[in-house]
Amino acid sequence: MRRRTLLKWISGCLATLCASVVGIPGVSFVLQALRKSGSDGDRVRRVARLKDLPVGKPVAVPILSAREDAWTVHPDEVLGRVWLVRRKPDAKVGAESIPQIVAFSATCPHLGCAIQHDAKENRFQCPCHRALFGLDGERVAAKTGVQKNPSPRAMDLLDCRLVTDETTQEVWVEVTFQKFEQGLTKKVLKA
Ligand code: FES
Repeated sequence: MRRRTLLKWISGCLATLCASVVGIPGVSFVLQALRKSGSDGDRVRRVARLKDLPVGKPVAVPILSAREDAWTVHPDEVLGRVWLVRRKPDAKVGAESIPQIVAFSATCPHLGCAIQHDAKENRFQCPCHRALFGLDGERVAAKTGVQKNPSPRAMDLLDCRLVTDETTQEVWVEVTFQKFEQGLTKKVLKA
């Protein structure tokens, strides 16, 4: 190889190397941003088999998500929790059939504490400021009658559906997990 050709070849290699060093972090930044942007599709989770849910008794399920920091992948980070309520298949309100499964965010719309299930009264309650909710997620008056229900709105209803697993033919509950602003009378999606 002639000297001039060799020099050209070396400088070409160096230019490619420099472009890679500058470009790779840029590409990985874009990919990370896409991963973090989390469309609704990213938050759809199969959370429970229908047969494992008792009728009329709420069941809490965690919403898991993978998180990466600089060194480690955390595959099962808890993103939030959801209450599932199964009704009788023929349940109706007035003449209207209502869905067999409903899903509520377990985050209290007041200030964000975790809503619990009061098994004795079979209703939901928030331990922080004693907000009370029925199994339909609607607010109920506080038992004392003195205190107003502090929650500004009903529990946040989430989209959910029944899907049949193609391999096992089992019926699963699928939930679209979303977070909402607290302290507002209307449901507003968190940015
Ligand atoms: S945070 Fe739930 S009642 Fe205040």
